[in-house]
Amino acid sequence: MTTEPKVIVVTGAGGGMGKAIMEEQLKQGNLVIGLDVSVKALSNLTHDSLQCLEVNVLQEERVNDIFQQIVDKYGRIDGLVNALGIAQAATPIEQVTMDEWNRLMDVNVKSLFITAKAVVPFMKKQQKGSIVTIASISAVRPRPGLQAYIASKGAAESFTRGLAIELAPNQIRVNTIHPGPADTQMLGQFAAQGADVEQTKQSVFVQSVPLGRLVKPSDIAGAVSYLLSDAASMVTGTTLHVDGGRGL
Ligand SMILES: NC(=O)c1ccc[n+]([C@@H]2O[C@H](COP(=O)([O-])OP(=O)(O)OC[C@H]3O[C@@H](n4cnc5c(N)ncnc54)[C@H](O)[C@@H]3O)[C@@H](O)[C@H]2O)c1
Repeated sequence: MTTEPKVIVVTGAGGGMGKAIMEEQLKQGNLVIGLDVSVKALSNLTHDSLQCLEVNVLQEERVNDIFQQIVDKYGRIDGLVNALGIAQAATPIEQVTMDEWNRLMDVNVKSLFITAKAVVPFMKKQQKGSIVTIASISAVRPRPGLQAYIASKGAAESFTRGLAIELAPNQIRVNTIHPGPADTQMLGQFAAQGADVEQTKQSVFVQSVPLGRLVKPSDIAGAVSYLLSDAASMVTGTTLHVDGGRGL
């Protein structure tokens, strides 16, 4: 039996997790549209079913246009995966600037509002859809100096739960994934200024994971795949910890 390909939009497509999520979706035969401020990292990822667009997801009008164009071309959007994000270098609160706070809240939270607002009207018409947001285990298992990042990830999880109850009557499922420390270029950006990044990865991050290794982007891609799939058709408003036990 052949199933119709799903249309999946991924933000943060050029990032470590975004790329792995898209590769997994393509492997499953789906149509994938990847959005990122920089698609340079995707230059060697070519596929007939993949389209990558360079866009700042904070530009609401541009995002609305892109979602409309996707629906004009494919007729629907089955899944939205929010895998974009920025890190915060560990910093005592007295030294965190308002600009830094605002930027973290804009990229890690406001972007979720923008993409959800853009996709929900189409999903409501379909009476079906799945939205998955990559937050962070730090929202519930914090580390010192990451207060703004942690707040943004807590907001991402709360926003997800709020949408899940609002959109359940429309058969739109909304879920969060909390990754533990993951092996992408972002991880080093959490190190305090001047700290040895490689040493911090080992001494702080790997050490903090009970299962003894960093999360791989493919671990996240597998969890996303489940939440997008019909196997998860009764799963909404939940947070899946893909963290090697870091949250315990
Ligand atoms: N790496 C980790 O240790 C870790 C742990 C827990 C949670 N997370 C979260 O997982 C998600 C994916 O992170 P990653 O590790 O793949 O990081 P990454 O830095 O490799 O990827 C993030 C991507 O988001 C893109 N992006 C940032 N701002 C954007 C914007 N305004 N518009 C469009 N694209 C934008 C970046 O260009 C980048 O390609 C993020 O939300 C991150 O906070 C990461």
